[in-house]
Amino acid sequence: MKPVTFNNTVLRDGHQSLAATRMSTAQMLPAAPILDEIGFSGLETWGGATIDSCLRYLGENPFDRLRALKKAAPKTPQIMLLRGQNIVQYTSFPDDVVEAFVRADAAAGQDVFRIFDALNDTRNLKTCIDTVLDCKKHARGEICYTTSPVHTIEAFVKMGVELEKMGCHSIGIKDMSGIITPKIAYDLVKELKSKVGIPIVLHTHDTAGLGAAAYLAAIEAGVDTVETSIVPFANGTGQPDTVRMLALLEGHPRRPDYDPAKLQQLRLHFEDVYQQLSKFTSPANERVDSDILVFQVPGGMLSNFRNQLAEQGMADKFDEVVREIPVVREALGWIPLVTPTSQIVGTQAMMNIKFGRWKVICQPAQDIALGKYGKAPGPINPEILAKAEQQSGKKAVTCRPADLLEPGLEGYRKQCAEKGLPTTDEIAVLFAMFPQQVEALVKGVPTAESQAAPAKPASAPAAAPVPAPAPEATNGRVLSRTSMVLNIDGQRHEVCVEKLGA
Ligand code: CO
Repeated sequence: MKPVTFNNTVLRDGHQSLAATRMSTAQMLPAAPILDEIGFSGLETWGGATIDSCLRYLGENPFDRLRALKKAAPKTPQIMLLRGQNIVQYTSFPDDVVEAFVRADAAAGQDVFRIFDALNDTRNLKTCIDTVLDCKKHARGEICYTTSPVHTIEAFVKMGVELEKMGCHSIGIKDMSGIITPKIAYDLVKELKSKVGIPIVLHTHDTAGLGAAAYLAAIEAGVDTVETSIVPFANGTGQPDTVRMLALLEGHPRRPDYDPAKLQQLRLHFEDVYQQLSKFTSPANERVDSDILVFQVPGGMLSNFRNQLAEQGMADKFDEVVREIPVVREALGWIPLVTPTSQIVGTQAMMNIKFGRWKVICQPAQDIALGKYGKAPGPINPEILAKAEQQSGKKAVTCRPADLLEPGLEGYRKQCAEKGLPTTDEIAVLFAMFPQQVEALVKGVPTAESQAAPAKPASAPAAAPVPAPAPEATNGRVLSRTSMVLNIDGQRHEVCVEKLGA
């Protein structure tokens, strides 16, 4: 059997998982030629939260980063993580914007597109896959791995077969929570290998300490590629370290041969960078913690949760809220927990505990129930659906969500022109997702965020506590009022619940 290959994630998932996505291009560039010499089958360098972080915190043009990295590491294919129809944001964009984004990215040098949808609804992947194929680039269709009564090996394999039919060049198993066990990794890879003819990649996190063992089992089952990082941007909530993985494969017939001296050079470089980013690193991310196996939620979500609950004065409710997550997931059709659904489910679980179960449904959770993010893997609880319809005044949809969106690119281009910004595809598609940040970047005005640089992952939802306004006498009936401001999908949502008399 062929040796397994490693993709290296240090320039994307590595620092997104362990340093709040704050590694700058300048911190990456010295390592890029060394990474390029090792023979990795791919370097994940772009997408996910990196674009948000470039614009919001680092004052960088993300396309310039890609071009610089391509120049510094021309031999190894560069990979981006793409949220399907959401591009790198939290809600659906019209097809013409998605297409323009993929084309601009391909033109800037992107080689491989890892495309996923939070609901595993393949209709949300189609525009991306078709455009990537049209640009003659590599489309890697991702299966988001999660556990639930509807997420069986059979269901995942069915999705894999569909991704192959849609034209994908490879299939990724995306275990964002790091909860795939060696046994399941083995069975899933074995089954996929028997049903599809394209390469399989396993991507996991070492959050619960299962990562390297899951990779080893997948390698036994014939997986083509696994994804590793470089210490200290590895292990814990990141990918297993490359050197550690090589040691685990010592004497194994599929062990790849990567130069240990170069790996050591990389380690020394990244030790330095990790020190420089110490404001954004945390022991909680570095440690292996099997807590996550109990709660079955992504590690990043747990740490954000602790912060959010503390901000809401609900720190003592952590256990209760975490136990509410499966309740919310089940009602919303057992959706996987990955950006953006992880934030939405987390927020709703918090609201269920704060206000009473399903008393208030936050708007994004209503939208999930109403099918606005796509088709959930399982059935939506009919009572919750009825409530969502009632609270939103809207009916559920069954079509592909983006079918409801009018073309948007020219509108964004016009807005760019009005603001005196360039009207290129690159700027227009970035503007579609991050209007204020793009304007600030082009005009060279530092944003408040880039100066404050809060120690929070760029992908994390922020929740700000607001003092509950004093109960006003509405016909003398309002007894109390609780309110909170939540930041979901980059939008502020103020939720206010009044207790009426009798
Ligand atoms: Co990941």
